[in-house]
Amino acid sequence: MSAKSIRHNLYDIYRKGKPKEMYKEIDLDQIDVNREPPAEEPARQYYFMKAAKAYVRQISGRKGSPLTFHVSTFGCQMNARDSEKLTGILKEIGYLPTDTEDADFVIYNTCTVRENANNKVYGRLGCLNGFQKKNPFMMIGLCGCMMQEPAVVEKIRKSYRFVDLIFGTHNLYKFAELITAALESRFLSGTQKKGDSMIVDIWEGTDKIVEDLPNQRKYPFKSGVNIMFGCNNFCSYCIVPYVRGRERSREPEDIIREIKTLAAEGVVEVMLLGQNVNSYGKQLERPISFAQLLQKVEQIPGIERIRFMTSHPKDLSEELIETMKNSSKICRHLHLPLQSGSSAILKQMNRNYTKEQYLKLVDKLRAAIPDIAVTTDIIVGFPGETEADFEETMDVVRRVEFDSAFTFLYSKRTGTPAASMENQVPEEVVKQRFDRLLKEVQEIAAKKAMRYQGSVQKVLIEQINEQDASLVTGRMSGNSVVHLPGTEDMIGTIVDVYLAECKGFYYIGEVR
Ligand code: 5AD
Ligand code: SF4
Repeated sequence: MSAKSIRHNLYDIYRKGKPKEMYKEIDLDQIDVNREPPAEEPARQYYFMKAAKAYVRQISGRKGSPLTFHVSTFGCQMNARDSEKLTGILKEIGYLPTDTEDADFVIYNTCTVRENANNKVYGRLGCLNGFQKKNPFMMIGLCGCMMQEPAVVEKIRKSYRFVDLIFGTHNLYKFAELITAALESRFLSGTQKKGDSMIVDIWEGTDKIVEDLPNQRKYPFKSGVNIMFGCNNFCSYCIVPYVRGRERSREPEDIIREIKTLAAEGVVEVMLLGQNVNSYGKQLERPISFAQLLQKVEQIPGIERIRFMTSHPKDLSEELIETMKNSSKICRHLHLPLQSGSSAILKQMNRNYTKEQYLKLVDKLRAAIPDIAVTTDIIVGFPGETEADFEETMDVVRRVEFDSAFTFLYSKRTGTPAASMENQVPEEVVKQRFDRLLKEVQEIAAKKAMRYQGSVQKVLIEQINEQDASLVTGRMSGNSVVHLPGTEDMIGTIVDVYLAECKGFYYIGEVR
């Protein structure tokens, strides 16, 4: 394909109505692209990577130094994995990574699960604008869950016009194509002034899953692996089903192939990722259960630890408990979000289980796997939560004795059913309950952690300790953090560690 038709193609897609002279500064004929962009994926994205790479080379020539990038991730493990995909493509097209936000391309992979996540992004965008004023080559991209909210995109279009590229969760696989368009729009137009070149591409949903795109892992020895996307549960407080779309599972063959490749590259631990992994595979043409998938992953040589996230209590099957029990690789850790201990509130939350069912499930789990660490998420101050409801939550916390718990102040998310419920709980009451819960959760977690003090446990060494370079930091099967004297060559290995001292949230140990 000629460079001219790339121009037209992108022009048609994104820039309808803009004068063609926009593209006069860079000689696109130098790009070695000899055919139409393929319609099929992922070939299409590789085609655009090639096109973008040529642009990056030319722009860095103009700048007189290599172009750098920085990806900032907000929110959950899913976003962390998505950021590795963005990083893979940015490296592929010739950007160099940098730790600071004064880079030539900064992208925020955003979260919108709670309002404060949104506010953080707006705050930091202001700082980016300052960097951009000093660096005419700097591009700013925004993607992730927050961009799936129309009101957010409107606000950015209006008040943050210096942003170059906005896309959402459903078309992340198109990043190479989008960045090509953004580079063209920003740098190939002769006269246009900054602020006119924003590329916005948001989809309402998709059933598409694109395999085999590049990605760049943060850690060489462990990796997240998406097994499904989206969520169908519609918990009444939660915005995720609206911004991540309906549940779609990857084919087990694709997942296994990816994990085999990861193992061949030296990965020893995988974290299978999905909003609700327990319903994995139910809607595939050839249905398969999550437990069956785990059994397949278990057989992959080189993989020594398997984790997964997140489990919904309503879908946690006997088969899964049995599979965990019989596995030597699945970590002794289950993250099982409780959200509330009050059956009345759980009903309002549309969680589909009661307090009693949750407690029973934990009992069953611990009877089968006594050493399992159980962690959870809890929301305080859901609309209508009374003191008695809150006490039910405290009761579950005391009875289950979670190894750790993420506690959240309820955050009103526009468009969710809970946002329009009456009886929103006053902020002061919520804060006060939150503090009580946090204290309880922390005391219990510290007490629980003591049970391993003085024992020897297997620890996967993950990194040099951030405060003290003579120490390394790793994780036990149950996910607890351990610091111990060690060296860089230990990273990625699983070692026996004597846990000399429990410090509440972590241990100090030594190699045995
Ligand atoms: N307010 C507070 N916490 C929320 N979560 C999801 N939506 C909200 C909200 N509107 C919490 C839940 C979930 C975790 C990822 O975030 O506890 O499990
Ligand atoms: Fe949100 Fe509920 Fe889906 Fe989790 S299961 S992502 S809390 S709707």
